[in-house]
Amino acid sequence: MDLGIKGKVALVTGGSRGLGRQIALSLAREGVNVAICGRTKETLAATSKELTGLGVKAASVVADVGKPSEMDSLHKEAVRQLGPVDILVNNAGGSISRAGVDGASLAEFQATFDLNVFGGYRLMQLCIPHMKQQRWGRIINIASIWGREYGGNVGYMSAKAALIAATKHAGVTLAKHGILVNSIAPGSIEHPEGGWEKFKKDNPPEVVKAFIEKNLPMGRFGWPEPVGDLAAFLASQRAGLITGACIVVDGGQSITII
Ligand SMILES: NC(=O)c1ccc[n+]([C@@H]2O[C@H](COP(=O)([O-])OP(=O)(O)OC[C@H]3O[C@@H](n4cnc5c(N)ncnc54)[C@H](OP(=O)(O)O)[C@@H]3O)[C@@H](O)[C@H]2O)c1
Repeated sequence: MDLGIKGKVALVTGGSRGLGRQIALSLAREGVNVAICGRTKETLAATSKELTGLGVKAASVVADVGKPSEMDSLHKEAVRQLGPVDILVNNAGGSISRAGVDGASLAEFQATFDLNVFGGYRLMQLCIPHMKQQRWGRIINIASIWGREYGGNVGYMSAKAALIAATKHAGVTLAKHGILVNSIAPGSIEHPEGGWEKFKKDNPPEVVKAFIEKNLPMGRFGWPEPVGDLAAFLASQRAGLITGACIVVDGGQSITII
């Protein structure tokens, strides 16, 4: 299937490892030129090399999405290197404190929103003018099943829920401009140096086995390719009628029926 996005420019935050790396690779396989950001120069360089190996242009920018004030310079540098952003993927995110409301400080709660919501929100604002002008744009926000139902810690769950809500609002608001805005809610996805790989290393096999039996109907952790390929589809010409949606990729893990 030709996704019809060859030659477009994407910016993928947290694109050097994990789900972000896979999203960048899936887009590059469709001929999209990809800018990635992260906090570590070395992993950015390694992934950039993989991207250029697929025959597209790549740019890597050191930037911390948890510091929304850095988003203007990130956007400027990505545009300088590759041109205006047609496809924005707000992927970087995660937890700051694992505690509940009786343990996580207000500063930690706020920092979780900086990382999962406010950085991406600023990037949406920076990318929208060009998308509006050309009457075409795609924004994909990486949320979590734990933004749709109970799970994880209080900051993460609340921030991902806010991201899903902001996605729906942006999708409706921007629909008339040809800009589609969707979120993806992954379940527990394992990848090198990711949280679930660490969970497996840090816990005895019986604990890991019990977690899998209780939570993962497929009997195994998820893997990044279905998330990357879904992001590429949502970024494509073919996704024309999909906006404001939150699409689950979790191997049946979530409890909700909607
Ligand atoms: N993996 C899962 O099971 C799962 C499930 C549901 C939702 N998600 C969501 O999917 C997204 C990606 O998850 P992941 O497991 O791939 O994440 P990850 O392993 O924590 O991070 C992967 C990438 O994000 C970058 N990154 C992390 N913090 C950053 C920051 N503050 N600023 C810029 N880049 C940053 C990392 O590079 P540096 O470390 O060099 O910065 C790396 O490139 C997140 O939003 C996460 O909440 C993941």
